[in-house]
Amino acid sequence: MGTPPGREPTMRTERDAQRLPAELSHSAELEALASDDRHPRPPGWHLSAQAVRHFILGGPATPDRPACRRKIFGNDLAVERAIVTLAGQRGLLLVGEPGTAKSLLSELLAAAISGSSTHTVQGSAGTAEEQIRYGWNYALLLKEGPSERALVPGPLHRCMSLGCLLRFEEITRCPVEIQDSLIPVLSDRVLHVPELGDDAMLLSRPGFNIVATANLRDRGVNEMSAALKRRFNFETLLPIRDPAAEAELVGREVDRLLAEDGIGARLPPDVSQLLVQVFQELRAGEALGVRLEPLSSVLSTAEAVNVAYSAAAEAWYFGDGSAQPEHLLRHMSGTALKDDADDRKRLTDYLRLLRGKRGNDPGWKRLLDGERWL
Ligand SMILES: Nc1ncnc2c1ncn2[C@@H]1O[C@H](COP(=O)(O)OP(=O)(O)OP(=O)(O)O)[C@@H](O)[C@H]1O
Ligand SMILES: [Mg+2]
Repeated sequence: MGTPPGREPTMRTERDAQRLPAELSHSAELEALASDDRHPRPPGWHLSAQAVRHFILGGPATPDRPACRRKIFGNDLAVERAIVTLAGQRGLLLVGEPGTAKSLLSELLAAAISGSSTHTVQGSAGTAEEQIRYGWNYALLLKEGPSERALVPGPLHRCMSLGCLLRFEEITRCPVEIQDSLIPVLSDRVLHVPELGDDAMLLSRPGFNIVATANLRDRGVNEMSAALKRRFNFETLLPIRDPAAEAELVGREVDRLLAEDGIGARLPPDVSQLLVQVFQELRAGEALGVRLEPLSSVLSTAEAVNVAYSAAAEAWYFGDGSAQPEHLLRHMSGTALKDDADDRKRLTDYLRLLRGKRGNDPGWKRLLDGERWL
């Protein structure tokens, strides 16, 4: 696919990169989708809405579409509504618990819709307006005064002039007045540049829109101004409920990460199934008909991937190259049980319950053997 418009290559070769953005890692699928796409494309989009959906939710080959792998699990309706929102003139705000694929979905949407997912603002308490809108080349500014030449476009300026999606990560971590600077952009699709003259402004090109994410555990969306909330459609991403889908995803993600890191270990499917069952029961706060005290740690799919990856990496560096059930608990303390000492007790209560009811099953027995390392 080459370098997407507006994105300068920063690596000598793509093989130098530790992780490729979605438009490069899925370039074959995106190219095939674009060349077979017979459906109407919203103004400024690289693909039709149907092709974007097929890219993200996957599906078999048809006469006008190549086969695509599913990339987002268990949130089909939210994905469809997100695509519809972005084709209109309201921004999209993806909300949810940590690790529910908000950033992944925003990356996939930007890659499919605009051909580039790297126009991104990372929101934080220290994010300043110049990092979002535009700044100045101070040497030129002092020499010539404010001019087009001295203006250094920020991600918002670039996306408006190119007509592509701006990703705004963790928007609610920014001070409210910084968030509110997006209101005129979202309502009038115009960015005023008063330094260049009273009427100086940038009008956005078709295809421009904003896809933002917000984490429910950090500073929440409740502090966002009502005026800004009204300019976004909210979509909540939920943890994956189907154990088979979650186990498939964990297996696939761990294989991908191991390959990226040059690790030849493998994660047997029965090990990822056991891990997912543990995560689903702890998340639901119920196992074998018994209520459990919920853990305060976030037991997201992303954390399940981390536990499984660490177990497989350990097997590669110190074992026989194949992750086993007993390795799982050994890695839960560093990845899933982070900072609350009471979580360890809650987990051991759960394991005691399992020992009584499932201790005779060979797979569960091996998993429980790992408790000595907790
Ligand atoms: N529903 C899902 N479909 C596909 N992948 C998922 C899903 N839920 C979690 N994942 C996995 O979780 C990983 C991390 O997701 P991501 O970083 O996008 O989460 P997030 O919601 O942005 O989290 P945070 O709030 O911490 O930023 C993904 O790369 C993927 O492996
Ligand atoms: Mg995120």
